[in-house]
Amino acid sequence: MDAKTGANIKIAKLTLGDKSWSFPIYDGTVGPSVMDVSKLYAETGIFTYDPGFTSTGSCESKITYIDGDAGVLLYRGYPIEDLAEHGDFLETCYLLLYGELPTAAQKENFDDRVTHHTMGHEQMMRFFQGFRRDAHPMAVMTGCVGALSAFYHDSTDITDPTQRMVASIRMIAKSPTLAAMAYKYSIGQPFVYPKNDLDYASNFLRMCFAVPCEEYKPNPVLARAMDRIFTLHADHEQNASTSTVRLAGSTGANPFACIAAGIACLWGPAHGGANEAALKMLGEIGSVDRIPEYVKRAKDPNDSFRLMGFGHRVYKHYDPRAKIMQKTCHEVLNELGVNDPLLDVALELERIALHDDYFIEKRLYPNVDFYSGITLRAMGFPTAMFTVLFAVARTVGWIAQWKEMIEDPHQKLGRPRQLYTGSPRREYQPISRRK
Ligand code: ACO
Repeated sequence: MDAKTGANIKIAKLTLGDKSWSFPIYDGTVGPSVMDVSKLYAETGIFTYDPGFTSTGSCESKITYIDGDAGVLLYRGYPIEDLAEHGDFLETCYLLLYGELPTAAQKENFDDRVTHHTMGHEQMMRFFQGFRRDAHPMAVMTGCVGALSAFYHDSTDITDPTQRMVASIRMIAKSPTLAAMAYKYSIGQPFVYPKNDLDYASNFLRMCFAVPCEEYKPNPVLARAMDRIFTLHADHEQNASTSTVRLAGSTGANPFACIAAGIACLWGPAHGGANEAALKMLGEIGSVDRIPEYVKRAKDPNDSFRLMGFGHRVYKHYDPRAKIMQKTCHEVLNELGVNDPLLDVALELERIALHDDYFIEKRLYPNVDFYSGITLRAMGFPTAMFTVLFAVARTVGWIAQWKEMIEDPHQKLGRPRQLYTGSPRREYQPISRRK
């Protein structure tokens, strides 16, 4: 952005009555330009009004780029398709954190550091015992990740770059361990400790599905699928949970607390909870012949029903992650020999919706969550775990964005304003005089 150099700055003019003001326009490397309104209130006495922040850029970032109209997602400039196809999740983590793809030596060192931080503090195990067994694992994740700041105090000084990086590695390494523990706790099985000779995804699957009484052999097709699902969900620029992490971080809160805030936000059905909701919906539809009934409901303005896994705030074209997810879904079902009738419902629903005027006009396409539920269910995860897996994957995005924010010299405490439409000042009435 030319915000710093001030070179070739374009100007937007705002005129109100007989006064006018100029505001600089900055160009990104690609994508829409932004108008810098940071001095708007100081100069004009008015605020911008943008519920849902649909026209607001909240920060400068070099991490992720989305072109929602073209269906493009780039991490540090690299297309998601290439990273998911040719790389692995830890390579993506390195890329998001450091800005460049690692050399072989850097990758080996990074993998080693993450692997050797996967164990949790032994006292964390006791922390779990305080939860009910039937607690939603997202509730458990939110609590346990928040609690990490109590266990790893030596990496909570956000002014120390070394501590920031240690906290980042710890978060990436420990979130699958905590997620697997949340799952094991919910089904009453013993926790499985991480195993350092396994790759990130295989290790996670083992921590979820191994039991002490049997030998566990990771399935490479499932591990690859898990790894790819993590890569697809690793970051997505300034979405609701990432913005939550940045906002929390802008106060100087420690990284573990910020990520816990992000996890709480991700839980909502309009965000990370959509894969759970999409699978539930496919189950409710049940068979291909009932699809028209549900499509009709989705189009009815008087019915609050929406096709879950369809539509996206940013993608007004096919979500590029959904295509990879669809392929991964087929690979997993083939490997496991699963013939899931919900996949037939999903494929037919997608086909019908893509040809329906309502969805075409509103530019509603399947998003990444549409196929992830079927895939994860086939892999053995209960629906309550879906959003937890999303949180494991997104941890790196949150932490990379948090780090970028802390290291940004223009960073400020996040504090939006409002259009107040409540009562103006009025006189307090003692209760005896109220009617
Ligand atoms: N089914 C039916 N109609 C829909 C859907 C849907 N899934 N999504 C949007 N619409 C309609 C809306 O009713 C609205 O119609 P209107 O113009 O007649 O009022 C129009 O399309 C625009 O919808 P908005 O909600 O205003 O669009 P927004 O960008 O705010 O919403 C959202 C995006 C929340 C994702 C929405 O598409 C949705 O609810 N989808 C289902 C939930 C889902 O799959 N979420 C996952 C998002 S991906 C992620 O978090 C990883």
